[in-house]
Amino acid sequence: MSRILLGVTGSIAAYKAADLTHRLTKDGHQVDVVLTRSAAEFITPLTLHTLSGRPVYGYNQFTDNYDDVRHITLARDVDIAIIAPATANIIGKLASGLADDHLTTVFTALRNQPRLIAPAMNTYMYENPIVQQNLAKLLATGFELIEPTEALLACGDIGKGALPPVETIVQRIYARL
Ligand SMILES: Cc1cc2nc3c(=O)[nH]c(=O)nc-3n(C[C@H](O)[C@H](O)[C@H](O)COP(=O)(O)O)c2cc1C
Repeated sequence: MSRILLGVTGSIAAYKAADLTHRLTKDGHQVDVVLTRSAAEFITPLTLHTLSGRPVYGYNQFTDNYDDVRHITLARDVDIAIIAPATANIIGKLASGLADDHLTTVFTALRNQPRLIAPAMNTYMYENPIVQQNLAKLLATGFELIEPTEALLACGDIGKGALPPVETIVQRIYARL
């Protein structure tokens, strides 16, 4: 059993985080999900809580009562951390060292655990030079990229930017555990 931290951000692909959570949990792993406020508009905390059987963190960072400083203990106690899907926004925030919500604070507090990032966005967003610079910065500091695939995207464009199939993401996680 491994302890997996799954960060979910506000991409239309956030619904796939439910399958990912389900698959990892069924395989016997402990999955702690951290949502951004935007992600909670796309996928409910209740769904992810039910599938993981664990508390879901994020939008309620300052109102939930824990007997520890949860963003630090979460970051300390996981074997691997992944953000899937990752928005252009979260890539920019992490690349800038911003820590203004639960997901960014947990990722900023990670120790030496492996960390993966699976961007999902419109092709033009993904190819935007600033997004690419931010991504390169993350890769240079230890993140591993799960490359988006080419597909007919939710916006109607065809191109690179889709979250890869859940199985691909699962295999990338297992390869690093
Ligand atoms: C319908 C809809 C779909 C979106 N899909 C994406 C997406 O796939 N990728 C992305 O980077 N941003 C997407 N966005 C924009 C993000 O939700 C927005 O940048 C948000 O602030 C991200 O917040 P977060 O990074 O804290 O989750 C979408 C917005 C809407 C309204």
